[in-house]
Amino acid sequence: MKLSVSLAKRSYPIFINENADFYQLVLENCPATKYIIITNETIAGIYENHLSDWKRNLPNSSLIVIADGEKYKNMRTLNSILDETFRLNPDRKAAIIAFGGGVIGDIAGFAASIFLRGINYIQVPTTLLAMVDSSVGGKTAVNHNSGKNLIGSFHQPKLVWIDTKFLDTLDERQYLAGCGEIAKYAYIGGKKTFDFISENFENICRRDKKLTVEAIQKSIEIKAEIVGKDETETGVRALLNFGHTFAHAFEKIYGYGTLLHGEAVTLGIICAVKLAERTNLIKKKRASIIKSSLKMLKKPVIPHKVTSNAIYRAMLSDKKKADGKLNFILPVALGKSQIIKNVDKKNVISVLDEEFDSWIF
Ligand code: NAD
Ligand code: GLY
Repeated sequence: MKLSVSLAKRSYPIFINENADFYQLVLENCPATKYIIITNETIAGIYENHLSDWKRNLPNSSLIVIADGEKYKNMRTLNSILDETFRLNPDRKAAIIAFGGGVIGDIAGFAASIFLRGINYIQVPTTLLAMVDSSVGGKTAVNHNSGKNLIGSFHQPKLVWIDTKFLDTLDERQYLAGCGEIAKYAYIGGKKTFDFISENFENICRRDKKLTVEAIQKSIEIKAEIVGKDETETGVRALLNFGHTFAHAFEKIYGYGTLLHGEAVTLGIICAVKLAERTNLIKKKRASIIKSSLKMLKKPVIPHKVTSNAIYRAMLSDKKKADGKLNFILPVALGKSQIIKNVDKKNVISVLDEEFDSWIF
């Protein structure tokens, strides 16, 4: 199946389980003088044979392997990628292939965006989260001590190649984290998507192959449409951050990698729905349906309780704030959310106070 992001000269195709020759598609969509594959130690271990095939079949290809983990998505690792890339002596027509989850996609994409003022790259996502979300849309970044993804760029890939066979080796916790990002689309993708996801979420979480492919397809269609309208998040793209104002704060406060991104998003979705309810944003008729949809979510275990004020302070360091104020993406109807400004701190704190007690296991 072929989808696409339409952005004039920066448009690109996304293939999902396409029965086509990968090498041919790479050469057609992203011809390059050299291919630099970037992955991590875990994926390099599992997919050693796969990588050997790529190295044999892609002209002038090399491999850069970085340490595995969100905590390595930082400037130090980025520097090491750039050092190794310079050692390979590529020109501006070289291309990077990001082979991994969202961490690899984000850091390899960022390296591609700044190396020699920008070279092409390809996304080959291997986690569910990266397949439904991070491999599409061109957001690239590394984390900084001050907050999540605070150093980055918009740099669209030339091709996204999704093969759900990679999910066979993904462990349960990571798979469920990816389901967290799928759940996000239920609240922003319209009523039909809300119905599809809430009706099938249980089976998607149980790895039903057909439903998972359908969920990936629907998620990407929604994302591609939004990115096509607002590539650099000056408006409607912010909807894709549903649950993320809370989520980024949870990730920061627990230390990157402790709570997985998709797990933090799951908790962020719960908080966003509760906040919308508390501030009377959801139309009464729909409130109970939206609220009961939260039952489908698989709550992760959180390490320990922190104060709601500490979470709120962490939120203030997020890049989504404007004029010192926090923006929240909150549901207003089935499958529909809006960007809400000036939410009263008191309401945010009371949602957090209320939620934390039920999250501690
Ligand atoms: P990840 O990249 O850390 O991957 C999760 C774990 O799974 C890692 O240990 C990895 O080595 C392992 N793994 C990956 N593929 C595997 C496979 N096929 N088999 C076995 N193990 C495999 O985490 P993630 O959840 O994919 O991505 C999270 C990151 O994505 C965060 O940094 C987040 O900020 C970013 N993100 C970016 C965007 C965007 O639009 N750019 C959107 C959402 C999330
Ligand atoms: N994951 C949010 C975005 O791509 O905009």
